Amino acid sequence: MNYFNKLSSTLLITAALSVTGIAGASAKNFKIAVGDSGGSSQEATGLGFKAALEELSGGKHTATLFLNGQLGSEQDTVNEAAIGTLDMSLLAINNITPFSPTVGVFTLPYVILSLEDAEKLTQGSIGQELTENTINDAGVRIIAWTYTGFRVLTNSKKPVKSVADLEGLVIRVPKNEIMIDTYKSWGISPTPMAWSETFAGLQTKVVDGQDNPYTTINAMKFYEVQKYVTNIRYIFSIEPLIISEQVFQELSSADQEIVLEAGKAATAASAEFLREKEAEIKQILLDKGMEIVDPENDEAEFIELATSAVWPKFYESIGGVDKLNAVLAEIGREPVSK
Ligand code: MLT
Repeated sequence: MNYFNKLSSTLLITAALSVTGIAGASAKNFKIAVGDSGGSSQEATGLGFKAALEELSGGKHTATLFLNGQLGSEQDTVNEAAIGTLDMSLLAINNITPFSPTVGVFTLPYVILSLEDAEKLTQGSIGQELTENTINDAGVRIIAWTYTGFRVLTNSKKPVKSVADLEGLVIRVPKNEIMIDTYKSWGISPTPMAWSETFAGLQTKVVDGQDNPYTTINAMKFYEVQKYVTNIRYIFSIEPLIISEQVFQELSSADQEIVLEAGKAATAASAEFLREKEAEIKQILLDKGMEIVDPENDEAEFIELATSAVWPKFYESIGGVDKLNAVLAEIGREPVSK
């Protein structure tokens, strides 16, 4: 894969550190909890990390992916990593927000408008600041970013083209206040449910619908239990790879450097996966019989209701309106007034 080319200088540094005896002695197999199934964006990030880790450590370290929530709900894995009983987890950022509220700025509806916005924000100073916040707040360190795409609405009952069409639908959301309030701004009260329970919830019709990106909908086989898709595109889903800060601090400095470099390779692998696969995956969903529609008026109604009600409500928890304005400025958007 082409991202390995970029790693050659790191390989040299690593080799030098090993020769001078700085590299740690013990080999490690990092255990990575993955919320989604095989074929997902999360898996692409995890496999990118594993390949780069093995390459950079000369085969000393490896990683094992435990897909499909085998190691527990995404929010539970944050607790496990915080106390050091789990090495790493790949999960949606909305499932980290309850532990480190400032990352909620990436979950505010209609802030991130493209993959390029997401790359700029996560790989620049804002991403670095949020990484430090999660270490302090939650005891976990973000080492890679998965770019999963825009979250779209699915349901089993009817086509949804307007906010009014949501009436009567029971929609599952993650246990995340920003997402709960977003649906409330659209006039319905959603049902918070752990990700690991969502397929069963849809299958047994405890809930009628949910939202996630195309790549996730496909990997999780939601087309088996959902028919209608609406491109509400309200959140660009960012799904970090986190490492337990305790586990990270137990590594030698050379191994820490390898882990961080492997994280950068994983981020690149994720962006490559989305750019190459998203259109193909959308077609797979259509071939599986899903009906995909755009909301009327370019989502205007959804955008207006969500941004006017939800953004101000969460200024304080994300670190103030200035924080949102810094994010908007970074991606070339107008500030909101204070
Ligand atoms: C969620 O809806 O809880 C997450 O987006 C699930 C995921 O990690 O894909």
